[in-house]
Amino acid sequence: MTGRARSADPSVDAAVFTRRTFDGRAVALGVTGSIAAYKALGLTSALVQRGAHVDVILTRAAGELVRPLAFQALTHRPVALDLWDPAGAIAMDHVAIAHRAELFIVAPATADAVARLALGLAGDALGTTALAVRCPIVVAPAMEPRMWDHPATQGHVRTLLERGVVIVGPVGGRMASGEHGVGRMVEPDTLLEHLAAALGQGGPLHGRRIVVSAGPTREGIDPVRFLSNGSTGRMGYAIARRARDLGADVTLISGPVALPPPAALTFVGVESAEAMCAAVLDVAPTADAIVMTAAVADYKPVRYSAEKVKKQPGDMTLVLDRTPDILVALDEVVRERCDAPVRVGFAAETSDLIGHARAKLEGKNLDLIIANPVPASFGADDSEALLIDRTTVDARPLGAKADLAGEIMRRVHGLLQERDARILGRTRS
Ligand code: C5P
Repeated sequence: MTGRARSADPSVDAAVFTRRTFDGRAVALGVTGSIAAYKALGLTSALVQRGAHVDVILTRAAGELVRPLAFQALTHRPVALDLWDPAGAIAMDHVAIAHRAELFIVAPATADAVARLALGLAGDALGTTALAVRCPIVVAPAMEPRMWDHPATQGHVRTLLERGVVIVGPVGGRMASGEHGVGRMVEPDTLLEHLAAALGQGGPLHGRRIVVSAGPTREGIDPVRFLSNGSTGRMGYAIARRARDLGADVTLISGPVALPPPAALTFVGVESAEAMCAAVLDVAPTADAIVMTAAVADYKPVRYSAEKVKKQPGDMTLVLDRTPDILVALDEVVRERCDAPVRVGFAAETSDLIGHARAKLEGKNLDLIIANPVPASFGADDSEALLIDRTTVDARPLGAKADLAGEIMRRVHGLLQERDARILGRTRS
């Protein structure tokens, strides 16, 4: 049975859910005079590669450290340098960049830049743009640890935070001076995650609390051995990022995987099915939606040996016990609530994909289940999937997990609106 999938809110363009976060977005990047300015080149390149239109604004000091031409070559756009140069791009219309910016970044931000931003000083191209933008602002400070620690700097940082500015870093490590401490600008990869989250502020999932589980669980046999499976966590991590970049407040509960934890969300690392169950139930009371992507182990050894098990001649028998079914445990807790969170499960199947997935949808009382054929989708970047609810089956052809994540979030958004209507109906009656 293949029917048309239930549509989400028609007032929200479906493309919002599936488009890549930076694609076609106008980003203004202010670079100030820290030696970390070289990292701004990597950041610019990464943004351009992801489809962003990047306007770079260099302070005079930054222009001494990194040539404007380098940014121009990467962005294919003029670089704003001097407000007072009659031939300069920014002198023609000193707030044009600010008007089109959907995101304003200052990276690296020196102690001087942090102070100027906090005070609202507008004596240069960066300052005028900072005052004229009406989009999210992200600042990545870089300075000597003593300058960062200084009450003056900390006071300015507080002012910026109170104004809703996102401050990312600095991080600890070796400074260019040779000193060690907190003052290094975050690496562009980490910063990109915060930028994606900032761009999503006010997105269609704004104000929604979404819990995502990901990866495998490990069931210990002894201190060096465990039972587990080959889940890489990629699908769950893609969903968590997508939800975050659409404005949601995300908690990612992850079993052990090789992926670094995504930034700008709440990350909870767990090992066993029992620990994952406890973590999910802990956040369930305040969750609007729970997406269980994790490949939870169904069995665990009855006995855990504190000593490493020694090999013996002949066969060995491992006696196993069932682990809790997290979605079933969750249903028992939330079933009676009219504001029960939207619940999404996954079903990896080797046969009768639709039959098995439907049985799980009903047995675990889910709103939506995503059925994947295995081993095809296991550990790959791409996945084909069926999105199955109570009445429809929507077949998604092989595509990037990031795109599937967008489609799942579009469906979750629709289900959240149905839940809103249910809650409203209950409070009115
Ligand atoms: O029953 P099966 O394990 O195939 O169901 C898969 C779905 O149930 C997934 O969403 C998975 O995260 C979830 N699950 C669970 N607790 C378990 C096993 C699976 O919540 N113990």
